[in-house]
Amino acid sequence: MAIPQSGATASLPAQSTYQSRVADYWNAEKNPVNLELGGIDDLYHHHYGVGDVKWSVLDEADPARRAERVTAELHRLEQAQAELLASHLGPLTPADRVFDAGCGRGGGSVVAHQRYGCHADGVTLSTTQADFANGQARARGIDGKVRYHHRNMLDTGFSTGSYAASWNNESTMYVELDLLFAEHSRLLRRGGRYVTITGCYNDTYGQASREVSLINAHYICDIHPRSAYFRAMARHRLVPVHVEDLTQATIPYWELRKTAEHLVTGIEDTFLTAYKNGSFQYLMIVADRV
Ligand SMILES: C[S@@+](CC[C@H](N)C(=O)[O-])C[C@H]1O[C@@H](n2cnc3c(N)ncnc32)[C@H](O)[C@@H]1O
Repeated sequence: MAIPQSGATASLPAQSTYQSRVADYWNAEKNPVNLELGGIDDLYHHHYGVGDVKWSVLDEADPARRAERVTAELHRLEQAQAELLASHLGPLTPADRVFDAGCGRGGGSVVAHQRYGCHADGVTLSTTQADFANGQARARGIDGKVRYHHRNMLDTGFSTGSYAASWNNESTMYVELDLLFAEHSRLLRRGGRYVTITGCYNDTYGQASREVSLINAHYICDIHPRSAYFRAMARHRLVPVHVEDLTQATIPYWELRKTAEHLVTGIEDTFLTAYKNGSFQYLMIVADRV
């Protein structure tokens, strides 16, 4: 057996086979629902949306123009979600650092930077996403403050206590919550803020429904029950200060997306059924690191 020499370090990220498959998925991902929406203003999000739909977009008679208006409306709703999350990170100063866990193509870190002027570090398992997001930051001239890294969010290698705020926007379902919250708790300074927006299965339904299982298979993830978040946060010095059920607020996004032939991925009806049969919830949890 080869024994590492003194001072030798393993290269990051150290990832499991499962995590390599997740990385493969996101390296190959080119869904129009992500790229066409982001292309409108170069704010690329890989999450869903919240808020009321302006249904008048469907009144447009010209099909090409109607498709454009639907795309823009879906982007407005996903941007509203990113803004909602960012609004709970503060107050922050331009000297503060924030950590974007599972950052996708990087839109969330840009939104936080635009709002607070803060430094941001985003991490993703996908080299393609990290490269893309760094290119976007360079094009905006914010690469001195907003950086993306190909790293495992469970084991970032970043400095202990160096972040004023951190979040997961639709990326907790890829990891074990105890490992995730241990890392957030380590990275956040005392009094720091953690926010997650996530789909979770509803404990009052019982176990994961057929629809929740289909969503897991579609995205290669493992949706946690709502209760698991609070148990794991309590074990890792994260104390919820605000919890919001966004289920009703996200249903209009899915109703509109379902009409968009140029953007659908085939999972739309499953999400709508899961939300409407009570087995699945869209949740925001805001917590203080104590
Ligand atoms: C649905 S996307 C969400 C992206 C982004 N948060 C957003 O809102 O646009 C899920 C992201 O989680 C990332 N991810 C999953 N497991 C991860 C891990 N262990 N470490 C780092 N990133 C991870 C994926 O690479 C992908 O970028």
